[in-house]
Amino acid sequence: MTVAPGADRVLILDFGSQFTQLIARRVRESGVYCEIHPYNRMSGAEIAAWRPRAIILSGGPASATTAEGPRPPQPVYEMGLPVLGICYGQQAMAAQLGGLVEPSDHREFGRAFVEVTGKSALVDGVWQKGERHQVWMSHGDRVTRLPKGFEVVAVSEGAPFAIAADEARRFYSVMFHPEVVHTPDGAKLLRNFTHKIAGCCGDWTMATFRAQAVQRIRDQVGKGRVICGLSGGVDSSVAAVLIHEAIGAQLTAVFIDHGLLRQGEADEVVRLFRDHYNIPLIHRDASAMFLGQLDGVSDPEAKRKAIGATFIDVFDQEAAKIGGAEFLAQGTLYPDVIESVSFTGGPSVTIKSHHNVGGLPERMKLKLVEPLRELFKDEVRVLGRELGLPDSLVGRHPFPGPGLAIRIPGAITSDKLDLLRRADAIYLDEIRKAGLYDAIWQAFAVLLPVRTVGVMGDGRTYDFACALRAVTSTDGMTADYYPFPHEFLGRVATRIINEVRGINRVTYDITSKPPGTIEWE
Ligand code: XMP
Repeated sequence: MTVAPGADRVLILDFGSQFTQLIARRVRESGVYCEIHPYNRMSGAEIAAWRPRAIILSGGPASATTAEGPRPPQPVYEMGLPVLGICYGQQAMAAQLGGLVEPSDHREFGRAFVEVTGKSALVDGVWQKGERHQVWMSHGDRVTRLPKGFEVVAVSEGAPFAIAADEARRFYSVMFHPEVVHTPDGAKLLRNFTHKIAGCCGDWTMATFRAQAVQRIRDQVGKGRVICGLSGGVDSSVAAVLIHEAIGAQLTAVFIDHGLLRQGEADEVVRLFRDHYNIPLIHRDASAMFLGQLDGVSDPEAKRKAIGATFIDVFDQEAAKIGGAEFLAQGTLYPDVIESVSFTGGPSVTIKSHHNVGGLPERMKLKLVEPLRELFKDEVRVLGRELGLPDSLVGRHPFPGPGLAIRIPGAITSDKLDLLRRADAIYLDEIRKAGLYDAIWQAFAVLLPVRTVGVMGDGRTYDFACALRAVTSTDGMTADYYPFPHEFLGRVATRIINEVRGINRVTYDITSKPPGTIEWE
């Protein structure tokens, strides 16, 4: 279990709601450190030892109408701490404290309105008695009898106890989801809970995190040597700079160029880390080896496997040359940590195997240093800025580990890589010039394995077609295509066809995810 920084911390017990991470986001945005733990992994004693100022019970897909429904450990209600139950959390709380939960014939999904009928510290200064407010509901069952000590604070059409509270014991329960943006005042209600009710002072900032993380890295590593893989992406870059701040030259960064990076990217990484940050950096150009392993491979998963295995081999060789490292640093983020401890387990179908270098730590028998494992992606960006990393790196679109290999459907050759790099660079250049880069989650070109007939000047061409992709998204799980003006797309197409000899046709991909995925492979 991780040691939480900061004195004020809130524990979120997860019952598997798709919104649980958003609860953590809202709490942290109000300056309070929090962690999510599966409801069934901590005993009452462990929870007490973690010293939360308050506990939040998340929503979840289970039913509290039967005795088998998941419940938080009973001591949660006996520690004198404020407890907030959200949706399923409300039902579990009601069922455990002597109320009644029943299936409802009036299911509420999506937008609903609550009417405030009472007073409570939870709505204090936000909602007044008699007012109606928009909330986001997603439930079938509902509480039909409140436990002793609870009073109704708000009602909705489908939920007689949209908010109920036992002010004396500081137990609060809401049927709706205050953590989603469709409950416009939700963040304020959560803030009332953490600040006014639980007394958190909201002093958790990225500067605090940085200082504490540096200290923790020093404590963990001592005089040991650490190696860290750099990919040019945000997470590994921020991890490297943070660790370097903590232990200086005890860190060696290893940058393996697999030859599948975008135009100019490898030089940029070397310049920034070796020249600007003075981080000891090994730059291994292994592109020939990777291309050799990929020769004739056209299946997307086979590409990922070949790249992952080769990466591990090369990394291992470089680490052996450095010698004596005890620790391997990784830019693991909080969502990966939550996913891997989730009590429901991950998704049952593998759409794409993203964990490209998953086998590395086991193979190398190194201890892990993961200084970002408590942070969400956008918090990593804030930390990156705090550490002085340039905006061009911190705000960079995500880039997949297998790189351009999964943007060339079919077999990969160095000629195709060259065409794709040039088309992609033009596309991104135009996006930046139009000021659209930050409005887009990911934008890239894909080189299609088809050649088409064209006419340029007086001559016939028979060249490759390329597709442009740009999507908006908040987490990469779902995505919409970006609605570029036609005139912008026309400009990019003209430039690519004029400047990249070998491409004579450009298309724009307007598939959303689902049913498509962001990458083509
Ligand atoms: P998809 O294509 O699954 O992509 O909609 C979702 C996000 O994941 C990235 N992606 C990968 N990242 N290794 C990675 O490190 C991979 O094999 C991989 N495949 C997709 C993709 O760029 C998007 O951000």
